[in-house]
Amino acid sequence: MSEPILKLNDARLVLEGNAGPLEILKGITLSVARGESLGLVGPSGSGKSSLLMLMGGLERATSGRVEALGHDLTAMDEDALARFRRGNMGIVFQSFHLIPTMTALENVAIPLELAGVADAFDRAAAELQAMGLEPRMDHYPAQLSGGEQQRVALARAAAPRPAIFLADEPTGNLDGSTGEAIMELLFGLRDRHGATLVLVTHAPELAARCDRVVRLMDGQIAGEDLARKVAE
Ligand SMILES: Nc1ncnc2c1ncn2[C@@H]1O[C@H](COP(=O)(O)OP(=O)(O)O)[C@@H](O)[C@H]1O
Ligand SMILES: [Mg+2]
Repeated sequence: MSEPILKLNDARLVLEGNAGPLEILKGITLSVARGESLGLVGPSGSGKSSLLMLMGGLERATSGRVEALGHDLTAMDEDALARFRRGNMGIVFQSFHLIPTMTALENVAIPLELAGVADAFDRAAAELQAMGLEPRMDHYPAQLSGGEQQRVALARAAAPRPAIFLADEPTGNLDGSTGEAIMELLFGLRDRHGATLVLVTHAPELAARCDRVVRLMDGQIAGEDLARKVAE
């Protein structure tokens, strides 16, 4: 097997709660191969979002190691992490973090322009069109439904063709046909651009399309399986 693109070794996350320190992730050891699609499942509060944050370098592991593309994220300062993310990662959170003063089109195009892409607005428009958002391109986030905002956030994260794509419940707010468009976007990133996918999901259809599914329980890996078995 080629060198894993994501590698966690006994990664722990302890956060300060009101009643003292809380151990959110209790020693996660996990590797994701280049081009693999990994589903993360588990009950609410089991640590799925926290694990995604560690993988994206948005939370720093309290102990243990988190590597992406051979770089130790736990050793990077905030600036280096931000640069690394910009160059290599697409991340979509449960809350979408769209910029409220920019239209849907601008939300997708401006980051591309900042990254030096020449035809940023054309590329952004094409991404939004693929997500069925052509009639909404000039709308501001507040004028969009939750599902539409989610699709804009997905288009924005996917447009730079990141090597690693992390998404927290990417089909969480969507009905059947838009869910299909999103799966097309996600697996298109992998199939056409070689991206590695890590997807937190409750949707059995999405988990079933992943190569592998890891189940979290109370901050630990409780099981790992081929996706097909989970869906059956
Ligand atoms: N900033 C925080 N401070 C304290 N506790 C947190 C924080 N973020 C998450 N938690 C706790 O960590 C646990 C895991 O949360 P999370 O990763 O969001 O789980 P999931 O995404 O699986 O629902 C939960 O018990 C949650 O309450
Ligand atoms: Mg979550």
